[in-house]
Amino acid sequence: MKISSATFIKSSTQLDQLPEPRYPEHAFIGRSNVGKSSLINTLLQRKNLAHTSATPGKTQVINHYLINESWYLVDLPGYGYARTSKKQRDKFSVMINEYLKGRDSLMNTYILVDSRIPPQDSDLEVMESMGLNGLPFTIVYTKTDKLNKYQLDTNLQVYRDVLLETWENMPPMLLTSATKGRGREELLDHIEEINGMF
Ligand code: GTP
Ligand code: MG
Repeated sequence: MKISSATFIKSSTQLDQLPEPRYPEHAFIGRSNVGKSSLINTLLQRKNLAHTSATPGKTQVINHYLINESWYLVDLPGYGYARTSKKQRDKFSVMINEYLKGRDSLMNTYILVDSRIPPQDSDLEVMESMGLNGLPFTIVYTKTDKLNKYQLDTNLQVYRDVLLETWENMPPMLLTSATKGRGREELLDHIEEINGMF
């Protein structure tokens, strides 16, 4: 898929502020600092459309971007950031959960996980909750440029082994690097294919 336009639509801090569900929607979610905003910028080839930061917990709102006048890309707040207060974290996780379960136009969710670290409970919990609610998702490994091939293969195998403890079938998985552009085409094609089903 070629990106011909990408427009920031709005930031929502509450679900009743979300834009009308007029377009198929693709949501990016992951632990704080996993590289959501960076990957979104790489996908859209916009420098700082989604604000990135070395300080985790930057994206604390639901951001909607309208792509090619035909689908929404959504940057969700990162979860699991220890320095945000527990109350704040709970508020976000309730909101994210309700968004994921209740958004009728949501086509697919991309759970971003850092390729350098072993499976984290918070990520596995999100996947489990998606599964229980019958919601489709794709695992997107980020920051693969920081590993050599051997390290990456090893980490992927660990991830698969952990998932196979609870899942019968593997979800789709993509390898990406926001800095090197790895996986960009595959991810866009994946989105296009899903949009084509509706
Ligand atoms: P929150 O909004 O805080 O939840 O974070 P985020 O998931 O949006 O992460 P963000 O894109 O802001 O990136 C966090 C840090 O990781 C930044 O310092 C980025 O430069 C770095 N980073 C993100 N993606 C990559 C990547 O593919 N490769 C490398 N080497 N660094 C990356
Ligand atoms: Mg962000």
